[in-house]
Amino acid sequence: MTKLELEDIQGYIIRGYAHMMYSRFVYLQITDAAAAKNWLSKSWGEMTTAVHIHDKSKISDKHLNIAFTHKGLSVLGLNEENLNAFSREFRQGMVSRHRSRLLGDADSSAPEKWNWGNYSGDSDETDDFIEPKDRNFPIHLCLMVFGNHKESVDDIKKDKIVCLKYYEELKAKFAENGLEELFSIDGQTQPDNKEHFGFRDGISQPIIEGSGRRGPQDDVVKAGEFLFGYENEFGVYPDTPLIVKDQGNQNLLAPDAGGSGLKDLGRNGSFLVMRQLEQDVHKFWTFLNEKTNNPDGSPNEKESLKLGAKIMGRWQSGAPITLFPEKDPGVISDINDFGYSKFDPDGLKCPFGSHLRRSNPRDSVDDHGIKESYKLSKQHRIIRRARLYGQIFAGSPTNTTPEGEVGLLFACFNADISRQFEFLQYTWGKLPKVKELYNDPDPIIGVKEKPDAGEEQNFTIQDLPVNRTIHDLPRVIKVKGGAYFFFPSISTLRFLATV
Ligand code: HEM
Repeated sequence: MTKLELEDIQGYIIRGYAHMMYSRFVYLQITDAAAAKNWLSKSWGEMTTAVHIHDKSKISDKHLNIAFTHKGLSVLGLNEENLNAFSREFRQGMVSRHRSRLLGDADSSAPEKWNWGNYSGDSDETDDFIEPKDRNFPIHLCLMVFGNHKESVDDIKKDKIVCLKYYEELKAKFAENGLEELFSIDGQTQPDNKEHFGFRDGISQPIIEGSGRRGPQDDVVKAGEFLFGYENEFGVYPDTPLIVKDQGNQNLLAPDAGGSGLKDLGRNGSFLVMRQLEQDVHKFWTFLNEKTNNPDGSPNEKESLKLGAKIMGRWQSGAPITLFPEKDPGVISDINDFGYSKFDPDGLKCPFGSHLRRSNPRDSVDDHGIKESYKLSKQHRIIRRARLYGQIFAGSPTNTTPEGEVGLLFACFNADISRQFEFLQYTWGKLPKVKELYNDPDPIIGVKEKPDAGEEQNFTIQDLPVNRTIHDLPRVIKVKGGAYFFFPSISTLRFLATV
């Protein structure tokens, strides 16, 4: 049985810090590598580990985690051979023409329009890179700062005070630690964990084998899908960055579990994908309202909510429509122990094209049987760690207009960016042909702003005697920035201070 080295793993991958309702994601550049390494050599102990989360005596009112871009590792001093040991997606970053095509980042979501992105600048594939608007300086690292006012966990304002006070303490030393802040994004969590369209989020998460968390066996996924140094769902160790050229104090690193004899920079670490996704709540609910109006043109709130649930795969309460097909039971729900083959083989309750079913088909991947389907689904799972940005808002058919820009700071962990996050976005999210569907992208993350000539973008609701098709889906999210980060272990942080 796998046992994770919790003391060496940064906590955010194991727990979502859901009780910490306020957070600040600070994006920085390293201006003085020696000073930054000196800081790392002293402050690695300040990073919240997975042990701090399990051990009540160590629980603190503030949490801190850190992640680096490829460029950041280079500026810190990791040599070229060792940098090249990272996977291609991480080396390239999110801002290349190839990746944009894969991820569907076009029109107003094109990287040229982004506010930030991990532009690498000095890659041998430079021509392929797109420079985000106004940001021709690359991000080197991200500090994730969380606050929690223990006595009253549901008070966002108090969490905010703790978080920002901690941030100010850290910020006071940025300059002497060789760091310069580029910008930051504040993240929040609603007490009922609803995202801005109004649906409860963050319910379905894989359980990392060996993490000590319990849950349905179908949700237990091999640690190597998320953490380097452990076996994955294929029964092999994930492609981990190894130290191929001697540098730094390698005594701090464990040997490659795969048996190459080299030291493993990746062990107990992961890749963190971040995407700032602006949500057009007004467009989302106006579209649903228009499609469900009564024959006399008056709004039909009940039908609008139902169409929203069909699109998402859950009611606003979080209750899965697979188990509650007719109406929202209303009470906040975390029910997640269900499969589609068993409860809804024909998509009559939860449409094949819904965001939930496409993002994790569970026991029903195409025509594969239940066992094979779970196996396949587990090879494409991600650990989601999204936070909301902008004014807290929960949309509904009658409440469609938040104040100012709102969105999701989408974040997820995976050991293989290509097979996990990018596959979800590109294949299961964007591909129009899923099950018996032909012109149906994922209605939340796969719709194009400007479809090609003659291209349809539909949402099909399986029904009897005939299916219902909702035409002309609008794109309701806009990508405003994004980057791929390496989320190192504590040992690797200590090692990086010595390169
Ligand atoms: C603004 C954009 C997005 C919104 C509003 C959104 C909303 C939601 C909601 C409400 C759920 C149901 C709650 C749950 O089961 O935990 C969900 C589930 C999920 N979403 Fe998203 N999502 C967004 C973007 C994404 C992206 C970019 C991806 C990945 C590429 C993604 C992947 C998933 C996955 C894997 C699940 C869980 C499916 C399952 O295990 O049943 N989502 N999302």
